[in-house]
Amino acid sequence: MTTQRNGSLPLDGPIPHHVAIIMDGNGRWACDRDLPRHEGHREGMKAVRHAIEAAMEIGVEYLTLFAFSTENWNRPEEEILALMGLLKLYAESERDELKEKEIEVRILGDLAPMDPDTREAVEEIQEATRGGTAMRLNLMVSYSGREELLGAVRTLAHRVRRGELDPEQIDGTMLEGALHTRGLPDPDLLIRTSGEFRISNFMLWQLAYTEIHISPVLWPDFTRSEFFDAVRDYQRRERRFGRVTAG
Ligand code: IPE
Ligand code: IPE
Ligand code: MG
Repeated sequence: MTTQRNGSLPLDGPIPHHVAIIMDGNGRWACDRDLPRHEGHREGMKAVRHAIEAAMEIGVEYLTLFAFSTENWNRPEEEILALMGLLKLYAESERDELKEKEIEVRILGDLAPMDPDTREAVEEIQEATRGGTAMRLNLMVSYSGREELLGAVRTLAHRVRRGELDPEQIDGTMLEGALHTRGLPDPDLLIRTSGEFRISNFMLWQLAYTEIHISPVLWPDFTRSEFFDAVRDYQRRERRFGRVTAG
């Protein structure tokens, strides 16, 4: 399949159904410019728009963005306030456009520690965009892969205790049904920006066979062109899933 984009090289090959991104490097971007860290987060919102546009343009069905980890609650109060403020601003200012573009937004993570105003804004964007069919956008907020797995184990354990489930019946599909990402395919491509080679507690179950692209670019500098580079890199990979040849 060839997807032609204006003024640039075509993408030859399969388009990933699901792209996940660890958006990293906002603090370093700000530090490089002698700006406070929150200015890097603010600039990072533009890169979010670029990633969404690029994904839509080539027909990605699911885009998952890691916006804030459970461990990020351990950052200085001032930075947490700035990040929650930006999330609220994003949810309020982008809601109508995302709805218009038929993008269904879901916020996945443990929203309990979030302040009520931000929580309300994220609930509203989910409500407003529900049923959008062009693309599903997951914003992972207050998210931890290990916590997600622990939550799923607890859910299944309760079902066993209530006598609804025999432990022998528990399989991968059932576990997946108890994750935040229930109903979604695993990511085909994971992009991490800022040159860090780690997954930082992100989608530990779902990334089992995901192709990983590390971009040296800091998140606020991430553009459509970097997104397409990552997809091109993905298209050169041979996905084997443990077999001898590509399956
Ligand atoms: C990513 O940028 C955004 C969040 C983790 C919330 P960072 O804030 O981690 O930026 P660096 O890694 O310090 O440069
Ligand atoms: C991962 O980035 C979390 C997000 C991008 C939201 P971090 O900057 O928190 O990860 P570490 O601390 O470098 O591993
Ligand atoms: Mg970081």
